[in-house]
Amino acid sequence: MRKKIVAGNWKMHKNAEETEDLLNDLIDKLPNDVEAQIIVAPTFVNLASAVDHLEFTNIAVAAQNMHQTEAGAFTGEISADMLKSIGVNTVIIGHSERRAYFNETDAILANKVSTALKHDMVVIFCFGEELKDRQDNQHFNVVENQLRDGLFHIENKDWELIVLAYEPVWAIGTGETASPEQAQEMHEFIRETVRKRYGNTIAEDVSILYGGSVKPENAGEIFSKPDVDGGLIGGAALKAEDFSKIVSAI
Ligand code: PGA
Repeated sequence: MRKKIVAGNWKMHKNAEETEDLLNDLIDKLPNDVEAQIIVAPTFVNLASAVDHLEFTNIAVAAQNMHQTEAGAFTGEISADMLKSIGVNTVIIGHSERRAYFNETDAILANKVSTALKHDMVVIFCFGEELKDRQDNQHFNVVENQLRDGLFHIENKDWELIVLAYEPVWAIGTGETASPEQAQEMHEFIRETVRKRYGNTIAEDVSILYGGSVKPENAGEIFSKPDVDGGLIGGAALKAEDFSKIVSAI
């Protein structure tokens, strides 16, 4: 079944105390009567405390990344097993900042997806074109290739653990948002691409989130589009009031 989801990607923000404050604020301000699944992704060092803190709430915790290998000599890295062992069952994979600044290629991402699925983790798989791709009218090709090379090796049964997040790079943290029509056009294309490869049921059931400068002011219109099933929120997820308004807009 397709779900409504609003996820907050905190990126490299909030120390331990600030994390606790924001979580308390969210518990206070988030509406309890929404049907959407709510997810927050604090930094690695604050994941365990976030899981504890949110135990009796309907807010789930995700990691922002993980390593593709089970264990080994990979200084500074975190494995799927480590995440699972502290109660984190969801992971963001393929964020454009990981692709751009940490050289995560489609092949690496495909491995990460496989490892996460092996551990029964929910994968929020991110992808999206850069500004130049759109200017060159290559955005559909780029997105199709990212899906094919990073994700389309998985089996039909794996799709119940997959959430897609379309994030045009030119809209991330720039204040510039894709118009609701641009988002819908791309989301429809993404669903069609999934349909061609995996069939109608999987295409209709998968949740496709939009990410890129979603704010309280534009969330309602973007979320109203038929193929937009929620959002992956960066900057506006760092303020409980804004995030709550976005969740209420779903
Ligand atoms: P933004 O980030 O909302 O700050 O644009 C979105 C994201 O990177 O997931």
